[in-house]
Amino acid sequence: MYNIALLPGDGIGPEVIKEAKKVLYAIQERFGIKFNFKEGSVGGAAYEVFGAPLPDDTLNLVKDSDAVLFGAVGGPKWDHLKRELRPEQAILKLRKELNLFANLRPAVCYRFLADSSPLKNNIISGNLDLLIVRELTGGLYFGTPRGRENTGQTVRAFDTMVYTSEEIKRVARVAFEAARKRRKKVTSVDKANVLETSKLWREVVDEVSKEYPDVELSHMYVDNCAMQLVLNPGQFDVILTENTFGDILSDEASVLTGSIGMLPSASIGEKGPFLYEPCHGSAPDIAGKGIANPIACILSAAMMLEYSFDEKEAAMCIKDAVEKSLELGYRTYDIKEGEGKVLATSEMGDVIKKI
Ligand code: NAI
Ligand code: MG
Repeated sequence: MYNIALLPGDGIGPEVIKEAKKVLYAIQERFGIKFNFKEGSVGGAAYEVFGAPLPDDTLNLVKDSDAVLFGAVGGPKWDHLKRELRPEQAILKLRKELNLFANLRPAVCYRFLADSSPLKNNIISGNLDLLIVRELTGGLYFGTPRGRENTGQTVRAFDTMVYTSEEIKRVARVAFEAARKRRKKVTSVDKANVLETSKLWREVVDEVSKEYPDVELSHMYVDNCAMQLVLNPGQFDVILTENTFGDILSDEASVLTGSIGMLPSASIGEKGPFLYEPCHGSAPDIAGKGIANPIACILSAAMMLEYSFDEKEAAMCIKDAVEKSLELGYRTYDIKEGEGKVLATSEMGDVIKKI
């Protein structure tokens, strides 16, 4: 029995979580696995009721669970709030509380969707299927000191980029382990020609790679990687990188696949519960219309089965069902081609569930 905390959140969050739950119920029947779902309030929805984006009850529920499936949070209604009350704080706080230091984002371009990618020619020839492993709790976004100083006429602002060898080691291991289950290639991305943190990054990754003689390691500068992702994304298997570079590169990679509505993610650490969520946000522009693409959330559930529960067969079953649905021509509006029929969120969930 697996205890799953469901945190639907705001906007299309609840709409896509509903479909993922539907698919998990089908998996439960087919594979004889038992899921115990508990729902928690998070984001703007939680602020409205409890005055906080991540109430204690939700955090306790999460800590008692085996894995967390998260929808999305945020919306214009809460944009005026001060920083610590904003819905988006919930996700940052969750990552910190659960010590989730690695963010895994697969970018796959499904054969049947290649036409909707802006780079279709590259992708068809390059067969895009890569995984970005981004360090999530260190580097520039968390380093101190940070702040401002007034020095006479000018204002000085500063951030600090810090990494310890331990922080690098543990996320590197995640990347090498993941590569082992894939095409056994890690590209570590840094700026070692300029940054001291990157020099240490390279040294530590080289050291860790000795534990994985079956995995091929190469290093690439981040500016070159940004270019190579567009020129020839098929060359990559696993990309390992630090927080800031990973933030930018993973958004870049997401565009290659056609729609953000297709992209799942996992945030993992040394021990669970880990957190799974679609890469997209709450999409206020389409919320409530029942047209959101539920695939990103459904594939996030598949990642949960794989990484948290080691239910590989069940995870593969979901991935196959998604691919098959696309092959059969089922589309939501964000991935539609020409005059093809467009399904509602719940119809897409039904199709995937039945396959
Ligand atoms: P967004 O990802 O919500 O939307 C970007 C565009 O993609 C919109 O046009 C939207 O309609 C479309 N889109 C997103 N998901 C889709 C899906 N499943 N199916 C079809 N179309 C989809 O990003 P945006 O607009 O920058 O942010 C909206 C709100 O979400 C903001 O409040 C932001 O802070 C929040 N956000 C929350 C995240 C999270 O909960 N982890 C992540 C990113 C943004
Ligand atoms: Mg980003």
